[in-house]
Amino acid sequence: MKVGNLRVLVWGDTVKQRHRMGKEKDIIYVTRPALPPLEEFIPYLEEIWQSHQLTNNGLFHQELEKSLAEYLGVKHICLFSNGTLALIVALQALRISGEVITTPFSFVATTHALYWNGIKPVFVDIEPAFMNINVEMIESAITPQTTAIMPVHVYGNPCNIEKIQKIADIYGLKVIYDACHAFGVKLNGKGICNFGDLSVLSFHATKVFTTFEGGAIICHDEKTKKRINYLKNFGFADEVTVIVPGINAKMNEFQAALGLLQLNYIDKAIEKRKQITHYYREGLKNILGISYLEDMPDVKHCYGYFPILINVDKFRKTRDDIYEELKRYNIYGRRYFYPLISQFPTYRSLESAQRGMMPVAERITQEVICLPIYPELRIKIINQICQIFMKHSSERTYL
Ligand SMILES: Cc1ncc(COP(=O)(O)O)c(C=O)c1O
Repeated sequence: MKVGNLRVLVWGDTVKQRHRMGKEKDIIYVTRPALPPLEEFIPYLEEIWQSHQLTNNGLFHQELEKSLAEYLGVKHICLFSNGTLALIVALQALRISGEVITTPFSFVATTHALYWNGIKPVFVDIEPAFMNINVEMIESAITPQTTAIMPVHVYGNPCNIEKIQKIADIYGLKVIYDACHAFGVKLNGKGICNFGDLSVLSFHATKVFTTFEGGAIICHDEKTKKRINYLKNFGFADEVTVIVPGINAKMNEFQAALGLLQLNYIDKAIEKRKQITHYYREGLKNILGISYLEDMPDVKHCYGYFPILINVDKFRKTRDDIYEELKRYNIYGRRYFYPLISQFPTYRSLESAQRGMMPVAERITQEVICLPIYPELRIKIINQICQIFMKHSSERTYL
């Protein structure tokens, strides 16, 4: 901003400058939110301005709940200000306590949600094919204190829901799915959030479907929805009745309005992600030491991530070498998930977190890197990324 001859730096200015700098450097991040045209969002803002209803179950909130339930093919959905609070409330809603069996290969919020509820996480290893919780390991981790299983549909690939439900039924456990990666995913034509007792979604800016920040709990009956709604609004049942020690986790009208608008574009966005995924697979196939996930049979994917594994013995470069190399080209992959949640100070003293207990997760966390994927990612960039891998591959041949 200019005042007379002086150039005064104001906060908005520096933000603009930073954004401009980022653009000039042409940095490619692992993701970039796909936003609808701004002019389409303005009428929504005007409506909010006119109504003066900014939050507390406004009309956009109500409409988004209806539209999302339809899109996801689920009965009941409760919107939240973010996915982490939705996870915390989901555990409260089912009165989960004691110990919960979960995976160390997830975003840290999965386990933090347990911690915030005073629940002891019990980690079990993952399976190597899709990096979800290894269902063969669950039963041996059950103790008299176990009350639930909290698996994650990692990268949107469905867990072995049948086996998990079988175990839960035998031992009388609840199942809460962290489905934060799995927006719109279907298994045999059925929305993935129909499985388990509850499922939790995130609509964070980095996700396939975004409401800036946001999240949701999917439940299967009216009574549970009511309890979740009390819990996310301080426990208010009416103006003068507080029936549970709830929290403030409500989604506001701006978030809900963006969500409604995003829904118009979501199918196209997922289709583009699918094309990018195929493009990467084509570009990286036959490179010794590089592997990636294929589509699962009977699954409609949302293609939120493109993780690859780097086998150092075959590729002769570590995952971290590649991570740094990409950065030199202004390409920022993400070591997702690294480190394992079980390796963070809060959790590493747990018995189930000890090194050597989860060999598959411990290997994969060293090998995995997620490559950039978002609807507007240009083919030219994907080619460039694949060429970096190919270059190393051909250099290795002459070693
Ligand atoms: C697997 C997983 N769980 C939980 C969360 C937390 O969601 P939010 O960022 O909306 O709080 C995220 C993402 O951010 C996630 O990827």
